[in-house]
Amino acid sequence: MNGKNLGIIILAAGEGTRMKSAVPKVLHRIAGKPMLGHVIDAAKALNPSKIVVITGHGRDLVEGYIQNQFESVESAVQDPQNGTGHAVMMAREAFAGFDGDILILLGDCPLIQAETLNNLVAARGDNPLALIGMATENPGNYGRLVLGDDGGLEKIVEFADASDAEKNITFCNSGVMIAPALDLFEVLDKLSNENAKGEYYLTDVIALLRKDGHKIPVERASEKEFQGVNTKSDLAKAENSLQKRLRNAALEAGVTLIDPGSVHFSHDTKLGADVTVWPNVVFAEGVVVEEGATIHSFSHLENCVVRKGASVGPYARLRPGADIGEGAKIGNFVEVKKSKIGKDAKASHLSYIGDADIGEGANVGAGVITCNYDGKNKFQTEVGEGAFIGSNASLVAPVKIGAGAIIGAGSVITKDVPGDDLAVSRAKQQNLKGAAKTFRTRRGKN
Ligand code: UD1
Ligand code: MG
Repeated sequence: MNGKNLGIIILAAGEGTRMKSAVPKVLHRIAGKPMLGHVIDAAKALNPSKIVVITGHGRDLVEGYIQNQFESVESAVQDPQNGTGHAVMMAREAFAGFDGDILILLGDCPLIQAETLNNLVAARGDNPLALIGMATENPGNYGRLVLGDDGGLEKIVEFADASDAEKNITFCNSGVMIAPALDLFEVLDKLSNENAKGEYYLTDVIALLRKDGHKIPVERASEKEFQGVNTKSDLAKAENSLQKRLRNAALEAGVTLIDPGSVHFSHDTKLGADVTVWPNVVFAEGVVVEEGATIHSFSHLENCVVRKGASVGPYARLRPGADIGEGAKIGNFVEVKKSKIGKDAKASHLSYIGDADIGEGANVGAGVITCNYDGKNKFQTEVGEGAFIGSNASLVAPVKIGAGAIIGAGSVITKDVPGDDLAVSRAKQQNLKGAAKTFRTRRGKN
């Protein structure tokens, strides 16, 4: 579709009392991104002419998030929050003079996908409204879709207002609907708040339109895509569903996940073909792993790049700004932050590399530490191509180790070392003849 005449309203003003949290509900994250962000992304994929988010509870935080992350997404305030129907009314001004269709999405349904939404747009036809229904084995608190004798939708009954018989209905309201702007705002004016919650329910527009003789098409879709998040338990379920989706996408793209269920993805994780991920790996935000690289177990990666054929872990931590070069190796208990590790360079064991540039083919020995912080400022360490840093050396930044230089094990390096030099900085060893034996004798047995 060309999206010319599509407007989208996203409801995000509710308090989310059931989350029992100080954070506004729609800002809770799944796969590292606020739920509202997932919904806005799906909305944007339809290329609408306007997106309006209804904000209210925690408004400053929600609007701040929108402004930081999304250009051209507007917001309208709902205060007080008198229900979902009332929330949609708050967009009337933003859509003044708009004669296209309006798609309504809920900010607490983060798993929706653009393709399904497109089907709904097509399903509306000439009717004044169409919605997405989902058949579920666990209807919980969802609104129930009550069908008439002809199989057509008669009304939606909210859980709080449902009779026992209605509560047994398992065909539920996803919360997503579409209607021409003019029809929508007209019918909203007829809503009443005489119900269990004393709110203006958006869902009551169905019965009102039926009363006027209209037919309401229901597009059936998988429950998985419309899971609403009202509690922390729902949030965990949504996270789980999204993780499955992300893992499947990685497998389809040619990534080898040895134990998919134990790998945690971020919404933006990018893994190339033939990347192998061993069990128990966490990808936090902003990770790119290029073709053929291997991430071993128990590694944690965030905002970093692992280039072609490199090997990371087990037990590695890559923090923001780590750039692991082609074929390089980062071994166990190595932490890398804001540092470039050159092609084929190695740091195989127990190191901290921060604010450093490690040259191609350099070897960073076990226990090497870049001392990058003096308690106030951070300083750079440079290690040239092919340099060899002996085990347990401390490189006190700012410091430069030239190409091909060797640093003796245990050295504390505070001055630059020219290329091809060998630097040793440690107390000279003395061997005291027989002194151990004498010591034991003086001390007494044992
Ligand atoms: C709603 C639907 C229900 C549907 C379910 C799907 C209504 C009355 N009920 O129930 O039929 O099965 O979603 O998940 O529409 N919001 C506002 N302002 C308000 C109230 C809510 O903006 O005054 C926003 C919330 O921030 C949330 C969304 O609307 O993003 C849905 O509200 P919520 O209270 O979660 O409704 P449900 O009980 O889940
Ligand atoms: Mg909800």
